[in-house]
Amino acid sequence: MNLSDVFRADHASAFGPATIGNMTVGFDVLGGTLSGLGDTVHLSLTPCKTLGQSNVSIESIQGTDSEQLPLAATENTAGKALLTLLKGESLNVDIAVRIEKGIPLGSGLGGSAASAVAAVVAMNALLQRPLTQNMLLKYALEGEAVASGAKHADNVTPCLLGGIAGVFSVEPLSVRSIPFPAGMSVAVVKPQVGIKTEAARALLSKQVTTSLMVKQQARLAGFILGCVTHDIPLIQDSFQDDWIEPQRKNLIPHFDAVKEAAAGEGVYGASISGAGPAIFALCKDLATAENALHRMRKVYEATATGALAWACEIPAEGAYILQETEGYSA
Ligand code: HSE
Repeated sequence: MNLSDVFRADHASAFGPATIGNMTVGFDVLGGTLSGLGDTVHLSLTPCKTLGQSNVSIESIQGTDSEQLPLAATENTAGKALLTLLKGESLNVDIAVRIEKGIPLGSGLGGSAASAVAAVVAMNALLQRPLTQNMLLKYALEGEAVASGAKHADNVTPCLLGGIAGVFSVEPLSVRSIPFPAGMSVAVVKPQVGIKTEAARALLSKQVTTSLMVKQQARLAGFILGCVTHDIPLIQDSFQDDWIEPQRKNLIPHFDAVKEAAAGEGVYGASISGAGPAIFALCKDLATAENALHRMRKVYEATATGALAWACEIPAEGAYILQETEGYSA
């Protein structure tokens, strides 16, 4: 096989943004994208050293918590996504990977998804015949699953699509972007504890009462309808979680106090981001998010709890290509 028949270039880089899984009312179903914060993945292709046997090697991981991440491709979310893509598409090539982590490990901000999505987006930029959105999500999901122990697509989907996204089925995959009022932004604080998604999923009760199910279904429907129709009172009334939040909040230092501090004019609600420990507040705009963030941070400052903090818009764009080299040079 001539590599230039299949690949249009031999190296590319892509950025995958941080995401908020669940978005309070959509456990495993809804996710939102964060501007600015994310992971970058650089890929370089070379012909297979061993004929017919593709290889993915993670050459370096730099940045936030990078020393704690696995270099073995089968255990790394970017590496596993690429291995699955190569196999699924019957591609024979060796890939060298460099990862720059911006998202803290075990933060609840979709770091595993961001690296996996950035990897498949960079790979897609190199293909003569690019893959569909659903195929990219499928491969990214396989990558993310090595870290979270389950296939939930509420991080990979907004990471790829941007904005707020809904996962209406995982197998077969069915996802959609959900329109939302312009300017909606979030305040995020992450106390210095790490939570493993797998552990935070294992502690959830297998049972849900009918009355709780009814309440949360109404809130999910209300939030989505409120977003689509720009019905702010409906968004605000719906943005509450009596199902997952009470089961996980004790893992997060000062959760109740931070949530209470977030409340204010233009703040629609606050809850756990993904599996935590990050806590986020959904706000009408960035200025409101910055004010909410200031109040949320003060709780951690007053209790001498180390915490990272970001105020972010919810960007319309998800993962994007940073650079690619035209023409296959090998
Ligand atoms: N929906 C997942 C969970 C998101 O809450 O377990 C993890 O980031």
